Amino acid sequence: MVRKTWGGRFKEETDTLVNRFNASIGFDRRLYAQDILGSVAHARMLARQGIIQEEEAARMIEALGEIKRGIERGEIPFSEDFEDIHTLVEKNLIERIGALGEKLHTGRSRNDQVALDIRLYVRDVIHETIALIGRVQESLIELGEKNVDLIMPGYTHLQRAQPVLVAHHLLAYVEMLGRDRARLTEGLRRVNVLPLGSAALAGSTFPLDREGVARELGFEGVSRNSMDAVSDRDFILEFLFAAAAVMMHLSRMSEELIIWSSQEFGFITISDGFCTGSSIMPQKKNPDVPELIRGKTGRVYGHLMGLLTTMKGLPLAYNKDMQEDKEGLFDAADTLTLCLEIMARLLREVTFNAERLKAAAAEGYLVATDLADYLVGKGVTFREAHGVVGRMVLHAMERGLELHDLPLDEMKGFSRVIDEQVYGWLSAEACVARRKLTGGTGPERVREALAAARKEWVS
Ligand code: ARG
Repeated sequence: MVRKTWGGRFKEETDTLVNRFNASIGFDRRLYAQDILGSVAHARMLARQGIIQEEEAARMIEALGEIKRGIERGEIPFSEDFEDIHTLVEKNLIERIGALGEKLHTGRSRNDQVALDIRLYVRDVIHETIALIGRVQESLIELGEKNVDLIMPGYTHLQRAQPVLVAHHLLAYVEMLGRDRARLTEGLRRVNVLPLGSAALAGSTFPLDREGVARELGFEGVSRNSMDAVSDRDFILEFLFAAAAVMMHLSRMSEELIIWSSQEFGFITISDGFCTGSSIMPQKKNPDVPELIRGKTGRVYGHLMGLLTTMKGLPLAYNKDMQEDKEGLFDAADTLTLCLEIMARLLREVTFNAERLKAAAAEGYLVATDLADYLVGKGVTFREAHGVVGRMVLHAMERGLELHDLPLDEMKGFSRVIDEQVYGWLSAEACVARRKLTGGTGPERVREALAAARKEWVS
């Protein structure tokens, strides 16, 4: 049994079940690199401030480096006796350099230490996430460029609505992911604040150089209130919300990939390498990958709700409840980065079935709005035009025809202003081409949007 760092005021051993219950080493071991990085900066600062000798700091830093390498080589086991990663590193340090190692914790508490470690971790994860979102955006842009002239039905209520370019549909996701990136980048400002120097809750009596440590660790500033600094987990919540929003976007995209690859739609084919089969039905090819992304969205939402709930009743300052912040954070980050990586690759395995898309866009009166717009051009009010076209659609449906199949004299029966030129308004291509406004699906706009998206999001 390792002696507790806080064992002095205790007469009895910790209950073995309590030892296990209390320990976070099983998961906060993932913070070893951050923990050591923070300790190195702290040691260097202690020496700079004359709190320890330069030579002492040098020995500490060297030993901390050995501990890091030892952990990476698997030579230092993560035993539960160590309670948490902070204790493991400190005990190992003392084992290596003796009493000198006991000086490292001067002016520091695990409370500001753990806050620092998670901030360093979240900062890295945010950078990684932003890069991975960029890869999904790149895949979407590439897929759009590859299919730049392809038209598909656009939907509302999952009913065919108006024709759009496939690339326009894909670029909608590029926008969503762009906002996610912006959200993450903005959150970074609040993550990038040094809590060290807050000590347990009230600050430290030692003349610590907080600004120096902040500079060394790449933080933009130091926390302004020690009690807030050790009990704030808002930055994790913000990350979890951003992660949940990304997952929501990936999930919607997944849902579309799933329905588009169904026989009912037949819009896309996903390559064999990204699908799986059935143990009983030999003919099956299932879109498990997007299904799993859609499914995993639930756990990321869960981690956001979980931590919000953990935090809601906590008095200031640190409470052990907050140890519960880590597993959800790690799982959310792992899930998110994995899903982003696989989505970026999956999108490269998608081919659009041009014939099916073309047929789908030509069928189901998707041009009806344009026909109404045509009538408006002839001086009919829009409401009147809407009614006329509604009646024409009904008539065409009853005859089993599309609008462009109706003979001119039949059309004239609905409105005398209709002339031969109407047929120029009744193809999916014409509908798309007419939507020239910024943000619309017109081919020129979409080509520009693809180029702009590439410039903005792909390095
Ligand atoms: N393992 C703890 C956590 O993750 C570290 C901080 C412990 N501080 C304390 N006073 N017990 O939150």
